[in-house]
Amino acid sequence: MSTSDFIVFGAPRIERDEIDEVVRCLESGWIGTGPRVARFEKEFATYKETPFAAAVSSCTAAIHLSVLAAGIGAGDEVITTPMTFCASVNAIVHAGATPVLADVDPETMNIDPAEVEARITPNTKAILPVHFAGRSANMEALTDIARHHGLKIIEDCAHAIETQYRGRPAGTFGDFGCFSFYATKNVTTGEGGMVLTKNEDDLARIKMLALHGMSKDAWKRFSDEGYKHYFVVETGFKYNMMDLQAALGIHQLQRVEANWRRRAEIWQQYNEAFVGLPLTLPAKPEADTRHAYHLYTILIDKESAGITRDEFLDAITAREIGVGVHYMSIPEHPVYQERFGWRPEDYPNAMRIGRQTVSLPLSAKLTDAEVTKVVQAVQATLNAAGKRQVVKDNRQGATSNDRGGCGQPISALST
Ligand SMILES: Cc1ncc(COP(=O)(O)O)c(C=O)c1O
Repeated sequence: MSTSDFIVFGAPRIERDEIDEVVRCLESGWIGTGPRVARFEKEFATYKETPFAAAVSSCTAAIHLSVLAAGIGAGDEVITTPMTFCASVNAIVHAGATPVLADVDPETMNIDPAEVEARITPNTKAILPVHFAGRSANMEALTDIARHHGLKIIEDCAHAIETQYRGRPAGTFGDFGCFSFYATKNVTTGEGGMVLTKNEDDLARIKMLALHGMSKDAWKRFSDEGYKHYFVVETGFKYNMMDLQAALGIHQLQRVEANWRRRAEIWQQYNEAFVGLPLTLPAKPEADTRHAYHLYTILIDKESAGITRDEFLDAITAREIGVGVHYMSIPEHPVYQERFGWRPEDYPNAMRIGRQTVSLPLSAKLTDAEVTKVVQAVQATLNAAGKRQVVKDNRQGATSNDRGGCGQPISALST
């Protein structure tokens, strides 16, 4: 679908500054890894209040390198959440380690520390929490568990650029913090990622592994300082970020707070507009934490909404609104069932969320008119489903109240 009225899910807000910087980068003759990447790393580290940041090609690469740099490999287990993108699990597998799932808290949708504790074995080497949708995981409990059992923490911060937990930025609790700058993320470079480390040694190893395993500062070999020989000291990867990407990131980062405020506003408008509808809203942000407002996820339960989640997705898309599913729980995917014997019902909270969840557009690019369009589409879809449900229930002798009162009139959002 490509009509101009269609609201593209996760459309990035790209402005003149980014475009001009990309053009300057192209004209500079240096489009690969160079000065713009170095500047983006420095400015991202400053934003996250930490000294050590390495830019890479994706968050998937960031997690893969972090697991390797943590010294984790064959025979080791890493505990992560079933409510995540496949990349979190795949990166553990690519490092040669075994992923172990711990179910999520049904309300916060973040990994449940008690479930983590229950899955620790002598082979467990790390915990890999995801700050789901931008809401911080329970870092106090997780860091306590890690300390007690001598485990590393690798934070998947793909949703959590602006997230803070009790005044401290997400990605600085663990030994490694991994960020995504994919097209839909809160700061985008098209594709891209960043690793925060706790110390200089880990940073050097991540940088070396991200560039073929070449000795330190290999990228300087083409500079005007004269030719520099490089030596390959490990069999590394091609995971470096390009200056072309960093050109976008530098200016995206300058607007990170303004974009966060816009998404916080949209989040609030959705919350107010959906009161009384038969759906579950995102849990209220926890006191003393900062939510990144990356995903606005509602739950559609057929029992109360009178419509399945997938029917809801189709109905909203037909109203020219791009929606997402974050995520079907990891054990729903055949590859993990076959390889690890995982079954969705063994992680019941993640299974239920994964089968009911819908992500509505939350980009800072959305206009007020587009937010109103989303609200009206959700209201109209649920009201139509409610009316069908009332007719069906009346035939079966039930009352509409049993269905959560979804046959309400459509009310326009006042913005
Ligand atoms: C939770 C989570 N982890 C990891 C990733 C992987 O990020 P990337 O696409 O930058 O590799 C994503 C991307 O959507 C994600 O949402």
